[in-house]
Amino acid sequence: MNKFPEHFVFGAATAAFQAEGALLEGNRGKNYWDDYLKEQGMFDPSLASDFYHKYPEDLELCRTFGINGLRISIAWSRIFPSGVGKFDPSGVQFYHKLIDECIANGVEPFVTLHHFDTPLSLFEKGDWLSQKTIIAYVDFAEFCFKEYGNKVNYWITFNEPWSVVAGQYIIGHFPPNIKYDLPKAIQAMHNMMVAHAKVVEKYKKAEYLGEIGIVHILESKYGITNHLEDTRSARKEHILANQFLLDATYRGHYAEDTLENIEEILRENKGVLKTTREEFEMLAYAADQIDFIGVNYYASHFVKAYIGESTIHHNGTGEKGSSRFALKGVGERVNNPEVPTTDWDWPIYPQGLEDMLVFIKERYPNYKKIYVTENGMGEKDVLCDKQVQDDSRIAYIFVHLKAILKAIERGVNVEGYFVWSLMDVFSWTNGYKKRYGLFYVDFKNQNRYAKKSAYWYKKISNSKLLE
Ligand code: BG6
Repeated sequence: MNKFPEHFVFGAATAAFQAEGALLEGNRGKNYWDDYLKEQGMFDPSLASDFYHKYPEDLELCRTFGINGLRISIAWSRIFPSGVGKFDPSGVQFYHKLIDECIANGVEPFVTLHHFDTPLSLFEKGDWLSQKTIIAYVDFAEFCFKEYGNKVNYWITFNEPWSVVAGQYIIGHFPPNIKYDLPKAIQAMHNMMVAHAKVVEKYKKAEYLGEIGIVHILESKYGITNHLEDTRSARKEHILANQFLLDATYRGHYAEDTLENIEEILRENKGVLKTTREEFEMLAYAADQIDFIGVNYYASHFVKAYIGESTIHHNGTGEKGSSRFALKGVGERVNNPEVPTTDWDWPIYPQGLEDMLVFIKERYPNYKKIYVTENGMGEKDVLCDKQVQDDSRIAYIFVHLKAILKAIERGVNVEGYFVWSLMDVFSWTNGYKKRYGLFYVDFKNQNRYAKKSAYWYKKISNSKLLE
């Protein structure tokens, strides 16, 4: 089969902080990245891709290139500069205009409420480890539903809880830069799922006509050999990064095999997970009500048994072979010589996407539908004569679309695909040099240039045929 269903969404994705720039525009408050990136001397996020001003042009590109769905996110601190309290009318207006522009161009907006960007004031009070953030987030979400709920058909509560907590408390490349604290990561992940559930409840009880879901990064884990110790380590990483969140999403509780493994990891890392009966009631309600999930997929991992302290090195430069990821009580990611990797050491393994989609269908038969909400290839693209020959990106997207078609054939209900990213945006931990866009952005003057992949994607979106 090489044909997608007629209603299949061919979309692209952005995130507010990575795309908008205009950090001083309106009364916007800071999120936890603003000062951090400057203090660390990493890169300047203040211009980004100037989406704040250039969104009409970008939406026109969507229309011209057959992109009929766009993931955008609402920057919480543009609406509530200090996370709570008084809203900023200019921030509220900006998202009205942006959503209207999507609709005017025939582009369905998929709107995320939190894409890695907790307002600074709440971050300083403990972020997702604090009930304060959960309460404020629910209020923010409710505000957005009331404001935009009659024109947004697809809401996403969170983008990638796993990436948030792994970045903040395990890898330590997201503020507050804590490393190897698995108990904190697991607690924050649970709390985010409770916040998600509370927001789903607000949305559903107010009887809006649209749909609501959550986006998870779901990357398959395989033992590097068939030895029991390696497959067990792979399974542990899968449970920690994937199944824990999927159980919360679709079952409303953690199944026995999930809990057993999580408790083992917590024991090894000297921590406990605190939960309450009310939280599980809330999770169960949301599990029953949720309309869809978004799967973000970039890579799979090959895992070997590991005894020792956690040791992680993040490849933030694109220098091949410089990463290391070994987790105490879990396992170590290793190179599979048969699987190619990107310059950032991410294994390119489309089979992992097919396997994950089938896993969701089989383990959670109550799932309704799936969108692949991010997939794409980070490259050091070069603009030459106003063109970018990004054949490797085309090849990457091709094999992943193929994997989706195979999953559909195996009975998984996948209804759309979103390339990360629409235009080049900065990468949180790699800056402006890691480009994913269908459209090249010259960051000196913010001009856009369609890459070869944009023309290719247009053909597929128009014909629904993968050839
Ligand atoms: C996803 C995020 O995890 O991966 C995006 O939702 C991010 O915001 C994308 O940019 C690519 O990651 P990176 O680190 O290569 O920019």
